[in-house]
Amino acid sequence: MYEIIKAAAKASAESATVCLVFSEKTLYHRDQDLDARSHHALATALKRADLKCDAGEFTTVHSPEGRPLAILGLGKRKEFSREKLTVAAAGLVKGLSKLEATSVTVSVPIEVLEALHSKQAERDFATALGEGVALGNFKFNTFKKPSEKPHAKALSIFLDADERGDALASGLAEGLSLGESVNFARSLAATPPNVATTSFIASEAQKLARESKDLKCAVLRGNDIAKYKLVGLDNVGKASENPPCLIEISYTPKSKSAPLVLLVGKTLCYDTGGLSIKSRENMKGMKYDKCGGMAVLGAMRAIVRLKPDVRVVALMPCAENSISNNAVRVDDIIRYPNGVSVEVTNTDAEGRLVLADALIYGCSQYKPAAIVDLATLTGGVVVGLGRTFAGYWCEDEALRNALEQASRDSGDRIWRLPMHEDYKEMMKAKHADLWNSAPVRDAHPIQGAAFLSNFVDPKIPWAHVDIAGTADLERDKAPFRAGPTGFGVRLLVKFVEHFAGKGK
Ligand code: BES
Ligand code: ZN
Ligand code: ZN
Repeated sequence: MYEIIKAAAKASAESATVCLVFSEKTLYHRDQDLDARSHHALATALKRADLKCDAGEFTTVHSPEGRPLAILGLGKRKEFSREKLTVAAAGLVKGLSKLEATSVTVSVPIEVLEALHSKQAERDFATALGEGVALGNFKFNTFKKPSEKPHAKALSIFLDADERGDALASGLAEGLSLGESVNFARSLAATPPNVATTSFIASEAQKLARESKDLKCAVLRGNDIAKYKLVGLDNVGKASENPPCLIEISYTPKSKSAPLVLLVGKTLCYDTGGLSIKSRENMKGMKYDKCGGMAVLGAMRAIVRLKPDVRVVALMPCAENSISNNAVRVDDIIRYPNGVSVEVTNTDAEGRLVLADALIYGCSQYKPAAIVDLATLTGGVVVGLGRTFAGYWCEDEALRNALEQASRDSGDRIWRLPMHEDYKEMMKAKHADLWNSAPVRDAHPIQGAAFLSNFVDPKIPWAHVDIAGTADLERDKAPFRAGPTGFGVRLLVKFVEHFAGKGK
């Protein structure tokens, strides 16, 4: 799909040369030669008042050399970051597709690397460029007519960067690969619920595991549900013709003594709300209720390529929250194998019921060193934090620091919300130990986290990330188009790398 070459491309009509320019519009030394060769087409264009060089702004300029020459804006030099570069790279892809260019030479001035203020500027620059190119190149066309199917195009990327070419090329390959894992999660997330059934998702996980001997996949379903007392999955999934399952995919590194990290992702192939049915406005888009699980799966795809020295087990409690005469009712009481009973007060608070199974199972089977769960759990977190940050809860300082570092390194933004005994009290029910939703709307997203805390071994550091707001976008927001974002893939990968001692 992508070819990376450490040189400038030979001149041709399909090969564009791109100069990176900050809003201050300085043409750096290495681009001045190019400018001279192109009769100062670059300098002339930069004088135009309408050219702002905002991050991602792509401007073609006339080049007498006969091949497309373009300026890619990076935004203000002072505000430059990996994130801005990712946005710019997505703009590059958009611009190239308009030009119908199949290869691009990116000229990388040392001054642009310096503006990142990073010790590993080459690597940071190149990985962010790669991620942005891959993210910007994402298309979900499976269901379109062939004539209306613009495909993600193959692209040759030439890096014109003198002796820094090697470091940049390997970083670029890594960034592209990570971006492709995010896109893998996005494609599955976008797959509609009549196709992406519980068994479809299970077979996708098995397919991924077959790609590498370091991955193993097991699917608990049918009799296993009763055997392992997965009562949440059983109850939430029983109204659907698509039976529930617990998908388990694990990565084993060379060193058998490596610590184990448990990742858990809510995988609701569709959430109608069940008998507490959603309104027509609120049901739309509930195919994205599997995004936690898809992020975890996408992270496993990336992890097996990076081979960090840490064991990773991913659990995806997978079900469809539907309606039938066999549906779980409001007022039903469920008993979990850790002894906790739960009164179902709202069948639409189903995510926490299936996550409870995975948390109990994961803690008892693996005694992990840390647990991170990702879930599109509450509408409340969307009201509170919008599409910009995912909300998270974690009462362990070391895990918090690792996640926040991973967030900064990856661009997947998370914001911590509080936990307190009061919230745990709110979840105590009249006729059972807990209810799955308190009768008041107070602190909705926190109610979810407080509920889940009852199913995690208190000795194990645990973080819950509510991605209901960040899993998909209604409008384009660079580097993403409207649709699923794959939020969490990059966060989890950076976190696992950090855990393995490989991160920064
Ligand atoms: N899947 C939804 C949460 C959701 C809402 C995700 C909007 C994405 C966008 C979840 O299962 C749900 O319905 N939550 C309820 C919880 C309530 C019944 C306690 C909610 O947020 O209203
Ligand atoms: Zn729901
Ligand atoms: Zn849900």
